[in-house]
Amino acid sequence: MTFLSHIFKGKKLKSPVDLSLLQVDIHSHILPGLDDGAEDMSSSIKMVQQLSELGYRKLIATPHIMSDLYTNTPKTINNAKKELEKEVKKRELSTEISAAAEYLLDERLIEHSNKYGLLAMRGNYLLLELSYFAEPPNLYDVIFQLNIKGYKIILAHPERYVYWYDDFSKYEKLKDRDVYFQLNILTFSQIYSFPTRKIADNLINRGMINFLGTDLHNQVQFELLEKALYEPALARIIESGNLMNHLL
Ligand SMILES: [Fe+2]
Repeated sequence: MTFLSHIFKGKKLKSPVDLSLLQVDIHSHILPGLDDGAEDMSSSIKMVQQLSELGYRKLIATPHIMSDLYTNTPKTINNAKKELEKEVKKRELSTEISAAAEYLLDERLIEHSNKYGLLAMRGNYLLLELSYFAEPPNLYDVIFQLNIKGYKIILAHPERYVYWYDDFSKYEKLKDRDVYFQLNILTFSQIYSFPTRKIADNLINRGMINFLGTDLHNQVQFELLEKALYEPALARIIESGNLMNHLL
């Protein structure tokens, strides 16, 4: 057993957390062939079945949009969503499929939005992710510009921006700008780094988490997701009644 697994080893729940309390998964990569998530339709369907068995009634697919790497647009995403919906209906699954995107906040996001428009969730909530390496220089400016356009910003997995590990005021600054935070359930497995879990605990303890998401990409992650459901901190945050997943 490694040093880190000793640190993480604490009391686990006897039964998994019931995700039907959340109703909606607001972050997943279940559309086929659009990004580093589901590779084909059979993988997509399998993920839909697995997530619905965990209790979700609605899944919001959020393929990556990154200026050079994943050049998706609302059109490519909506087309893939329609294809998946067709297959879901064919199999008589009752899961509702919706689609938005996970936008990388980089220097070309505003240009992209002016050209293609943005695919937001119900209520004009927009899912944004940041670089894992450094704070984007235009962070606050882009948030301001998107707010002016009427979008409410959800920051995907704030716990994964470990360059803010030693400066919690960065999270407070975003809260001052009405940014919502979406924690990854996978953070409760050991998939990410140690600082990620520490930041997550800090955000949870301060009541700063508004949404939970699976951020599911593949089968390996699904197995880790199932293990994460035995985490007491996850049960606490779901039972707090503060989460907003059901609104989207
Ligand atoms: Fe994601």
